[in-house]
Amino acid sequence: MRKNIVAGNWKMNKTLQEGIALAKELNEILAGEKANCDVVICTPFIHLASVTALVDPAKMAVGAENCADKESGAYTGEVSAAMVASTGAKYVILGHSERRAYYGETVAMLEEKVKLALANGLTPIFCVGEVLDERDNNKQNEVVAAQMASVFSLSAADFSKIVLAYEPVWAIGTGKTATPAQAQEMHAFIRSIVAEKYGKEIADDCSILYGGSCKPSNARELFVNPDVDGGLIGGAALKASDFKGIIDAFN
Ligand code: 13P
Repeated sequence: MRKNIVAGNWKMNKTLQEGIALAKELNEILAGEKANCDVVICTPFIHLASVTALVDPAKMAVGAENCADKESGAYTGEVSAAMVASTGAKYVILGHSERRAYYGETVAMLEEKVKLALANGLTPIFCVGEVLDERDNNKQNEVVAAQMASVFSLSAADFSKIVLAYEPVWAIGTGKTATPAQAQEMHAFIRSIVAEKYGKEIADDCSILYGGSCKPSNARELFVNPDVDGGLIGGAALKASDFKGIIDAFN
């Protein structure tokens, strides 16, 4: 059975000291009870080694927000999948719309990143999603299907190791959330194309997270949908009580 996951994406927020403080606070909040979902926090690269050292791995996993599309070498400023894994991080967000839009990440680059992440034992959280204009023109399925090409070259064994996240770009950081029906419709579509490619069993086992202005007040109505297996959380992951409120939507 597929896992429910709540993953935080800190984006370019928090100094090292602030990040350590937030990770400590989350660790303490989660220490008491057993969450009904897996919890992941994805932090800037420089936080990874410190944060993995302080969180209880039984309560929370740590991930990066990106990795390089090259294995190693003369790529000034880049951070490889092997380097991420060497910090103790277990996950890596790939294909986030901000990376696609602001840093020119293409389907082909993302295919390389996903392969390198998997080769280094990381679980990619692979993001897809349409912009507003595409939704207004009813192109969302087409756009998302094209983005999935980065992961559809994987073997079935490798595909079954990844997590997907649907993040409609118009809902990210805007306070405008997809309705539960819009989220369910797209998640079901994504699962259907995964089933066509890899078969029903792998599609049924694939966790598909929703991202875009998810908060404690709307998490439950989103997560209750049969094809929504948790969330990828931006703004609300920066405050321990909000993030916990979203995790509690699975209680
Ligand atoms: P917000 O939750 O801030 O809308 O961000 C969502 C997101 O981009 C997570 O990756």
